[in-house]
Amino acid sequence: MSESAEMLERLPAAYRSQVEEVLISRERIAEKLDELAGAIDRDYAGEELLLVGVLKGAIFVVADLHRRLGVPSSVDFMAVSSYGSATTSSGVVRILKDLDAEIEDRHVLVVEDIVDSGLTLDYLLKNLRSRRPASVEVLSLLTKPSRREVDLPIRYVGFEVPDVFVVGYGLDFAEHYRGLSDIVTLKPEAYGG
Ligand code: PRP
Repeated sequence: MSESAEMLERLPAAYRSQVEEVLISRERIAEKLDELAGAIDRDYAGEELLLVGVLKGAIFVVADLHRRLGVPSSVDFMAVSSYGSATTSSGVVRILKDLDAEIEDRHVLVVEDIVDSGLTLDYLLKNLRSRRPASVEVLSLLTKPSRREVDLPIRYVGFEVPDVFVVGYGLDFAEHYRGLSDIVTLKPEAYGG
């Protein structure tokens, strides 16, 4: 069996037939998170960190990053809804769930699964900065630079991906596929493409 066929075999049977290819395997994700956690530990040595996960896509990145960190860290979440179509955001963002914690004078690391146009993150960063944290930085597992509409400082990037529709490891299509351990592309017929 070829390596790509073996990777497809590891996916749950119910989703396998809809997947075109495994773009980023679970092993590559784990290695990248090891690397990023190491960089964060060095950068924040002697400090405490608040990870702010952006629901829902970031759930696995937050969980897998949090347990790799050596620096003391805690976790909070925000949920936002961007007004747009199913696959693009408009930049008009509504907060559905705000942070539980105050962030004044704290070191905040916003954790995203993907930055696409950047409009969601642009809004979030402005909002968080207005609360006077000691610092705000961003980690995103994926970035699609070709889709960017606003220039954003993303301090920690996992992988740059081309402008293809990706799901898995937190990323969904119509709430499906989030639980896949790998990041995959779907066959066009799976998303009406
Ligand atoms: C995704 C992703 C980012 C945003 C990026 O969330 O998690 O928050 O879109 O897009 P942008 O850079 O074009 O603004 P989504 O709205 O799909 O919600 P979800 O995480 O709950 O799936």
